[in-house]
Order: sequence, then structure tokens, then C-alpha cells
Amino acid sequence: MTGASIAPAERTYGRLGRETGEHALRSDRVTAIPPDGTTRLAPPRRRSFETGNPRSLRGRFPVAVSTTAPMSELFSPLSLRDLEIPNRLAVSPMCQYSCDTDGLPTEWHRVHLGSRAVGGAGIVMTEATAVEPRGRITPHDLGIWSDEHAEALEPITQFIREQGGVPGIQLAHAGHKASKRRPWDGNVPIAPDETDPDGAEGWEVLSPSPDAYPPFDGDRPAMRKADYDDIQTVIDAYREAAERSLAAGFEIAEVHAAHGYLLHEFLSPATNRREDEYGGSFENRTRLVREVVEAVREVWPDDKPVFVRISGTDWLDDRESWDIDQSVRLARDFAQLGVDLVDVSSGGLHPDQRVPGGPNFQVPLAEAVREGSDVAAGAVGGVTEPAQADAVVRNGRADLVLVGRQFLRDPYFGLRAAGELEDDAAPHWPVQYRRAVR
Ligand SMILES: Cc1cc2nc3c(=O)[nH]c(=O)nc-3n(C[C@H](O)[C@H](O)[C@H](O)COP(=O)(O)O)c2cc1C
Repeated sequence: MTGASIAPAERTYGRLGRETGEHALRSDRVTAIPPDGTTRLAPPRRRSFETGNPRSLRGRFPVAVSTTAPMSELFSPLSLRDLEIPNRLAVSPMCQYSCDTDGLPTEWHRVHLGSRAVGGAGIVMTEATAVEPRGRITPHDLGIWSDEHAEALEPITQFIREQGGVPGIQLAHAGHKASKRRPWDGNVPIAPDETDPDGAEGWEVLSPSPDAYPPFDGDRPAMRKADYDDIQTVIDAYREAAERSLAAGFEIAEVHAAHGYLLHEFLSPATNRREDEYGGSFENRTRLVREVVEAVREVWPDDKPVFVRISGTDWLDDRESWDIDQSVRLARDFAQLGVDLVDVSSGGLHPDQRVPGGPNFQVPLAEAVREGSDVAAGAVGGVTEPAQADAVVRNGRADLVLVGRQFLRDPYFGLRAAGELEDDAAPHWPVQYRRAVR
């Protein structure tokens, strides 16, 4: 992606929709409206994964439109605050469980994140990175609870930027899903007096309501109910983690409030049975995540965006739980708090969840958040093909597409996408590799 941008003269970046009258959406093609008011359809683009009426693009997070050369919407830049993200394809956060027990990145992280940056992603997001040691899922998770962590991450962010990508960090606390063995060691809780196969010790985990804990694997970890001091410690840990992330060179801070981890545990009535100001009403259950976001925004510069990943729904329709209506309402609150993009995933809270799965399975959740609030939305889940990712953006269903497993199968997925969607993919390739594509 070095030197990825196409010459400015070849691109027109306009606000779409009725607000400016410059462009309007027809089918899944973008039309330029000439000054005389007549309209003409843009030439058909490559095959689309989506049919039917696309949502209107409201122009808040404009998709670049070319009137002179065919191009994909996926490879149009996304501007959030003063940050220009070169394209709308992001590496979704993915735990690697590849630290020793100190939370410091290893050569694995450098190569893993670095190769995704070489592979053409506009954003390379780290895995869930623990804001305090007890917030790790496993003893081998990445952390950012000391200055040493920030210093160790800095060369990685620098490399990502050198490739033209934007480094993002997902700030996480695993709550009652912490202190587990790695997936390849069985994924079961490690009690405080036990060790995993590498000799790493377990610890007591934090929960909003230990009595509500749904044991995913039939085992219950040693839990403590988060008291007021614990909650303050978590909020402070997020604030300090954000400060360190900035020092490490990250340009996006993403608060992880999804997948059944601590902040999601507070959000969902299925796991939050508290009777204090952090439980009960919507206002109370969302208090912790709002306080965390405020703490992060306090130290994160005004010119850089904050993302929040949420689970759009618990997929627990048979009981009181977290759902898309609450997600949209929360997204509106986030907008007030200075959140720029809500990254909409789902599930992960309870073993009874019924997740539909399949291509684009979470896209409707992102679409609902985008339609119902004033934040940009990221779609994730079941996106494996370039044209599919492009269609999500083109049809105004999300502003950004995060790709997880496909980026593991194909670290150069972004370059492949450019090859399939752009007339000239070569500028997206690192200069060192260009002879392979010219
Ligand atoms: C190996 C692996 C690790 C993951 N770790 C995280 C994580 O640290 N944080 C997170 O929010 N999601 C995590 N996820 C979920 C992905 O970010 C993504 O949302 C999910 O895989 C669905 O997207 P996909 O269909 O493109 O893979 C992980 C997924 C995988 C496969």
C-alpha cells in the first residue's frame, strides 16, 4: 500500500445524496448529476453481492466517487476527524495468545500485524489488548498496562504507518471471561491456584454479577463481584491505556464492549443483575461503558477517532437481553460522547445464543446503527470476497468493513481486493513487490 493513493485529479470526493445535489445513488451504482440537471447512470460495476434497494448514503462519511475512472468504494478514503484512512478495509481485532506472560508483544505480533499492513488493509487493529493484567482472556494476551508495553508496541505502529496503513488498538477487559487456557490448550478457566500447560498462573476474575455467569464450557472461574473501587480501577486503566496507546503511535483507540467481556457483561440484562447505579435500567447498565468512553476521549486527541466495538445483539430472543434497539440507542449516546465509529459485531455473551452466521450475517446490525445514529458504522462478520466488501460500502450499509478470518487465510487480502476492484492495483502494492504485478 505504499504510495497507494491514486492521483487526486482522477478522483472526485463529494458528499453523496440530496444534501449537496452533487451525487445520487441509483441501484448500486453512483450517478454524477451534471449542472444541467440531467442524470446518467454510471457504467455498471463488477458483480455485486447485494441486490435490491440500497440505503441512501447520507453524506456524513462520504464515499469517494470517481467521474473519470472506474474505482471501487472500498478503496475510497474514509475521513474521521483529521485522520484520513486510505481505504475502508480493516483487519478485525484477533487475539493471538502469543505473549509470554508479561503482555509484551513478541516477534509473532510484529510479523502478524506487519504482514497485514503489507497486505493492503487501511486499518490494522491489534487484538484485544488488556488494560490491566486481570483483564486478559489468557495469561498470554497482549497488554498495555505499563509504559514498557507502549515502548514495545511503537515499532509495530511505525511499520504499519510506513506501509500507508493506520494502526488501531483494541482496548479490552475480559471481565468474567478472563483467566482461561489458550484455545489450543482447551479454553477452560484457570483457577487462581492452578497453572496452564506453560506454567502460567490463573487469577480471580471480575464480574458485574457472579450469580448470572453463564458457564460456556461447564466450568465456573473464581469470580468477584466488581465493587465501586474495581469499577473506578477499570475506568482509570482504560484512560491510562489510551494515553499509552497514543504514546505508542496508535491513531485509533477502539473500546472493546462486545463478545461477553466486561463492558458487555454490564450492558446486558442477561449478565447484569446489579441493583446499584451500574445495573437495572438502560441508563445504569450503559453507565460503565459510557464512563470508559468518556475517560478515553478525555485523553485521546480531538483530531483522532475513537471506535467502540459492540455486540449488536446477544442473539437471546427468548429472554431479557441486549438487542439491536438498545444498541442503536447506545450509539446515539456514543455520538454525544465523541465516538466516531461503532464497530458492530454480535454475540459472545451466553452459551444459549442462536447466531445465524453466513455471509454478511452481522451487516444488518451495522446498517441499523448507521441509520439510527450519528456515528459511522463498521460491519464485520462473514465477509470473504472483495466485491462483497465493496458492496457493503457502496450500498451505504456501513462506512468500514472489518475482515477477520479471511485476513488470516490470506494476509494480502487487501492487495487481492485492489487487484479485483481497481483498474490499477499496482499503486497499492509495496514498492518492493511491484515487479511482481507490473
Ligand atoms: C483468531 C480470532 C481471534 C479473535 N479475537 C478477537 C479479539 O481480540 N477482539 C475482537 O473484538 N474480536 C475478535 N475476534 C472476532 C473477529 O474480530 C471477527 O469479529 C470475527 O472473526 C468475525 O469476522 P470474520 O467473519 O471476518 O472472521 C477474533 C476472531 C478470530 C478468528
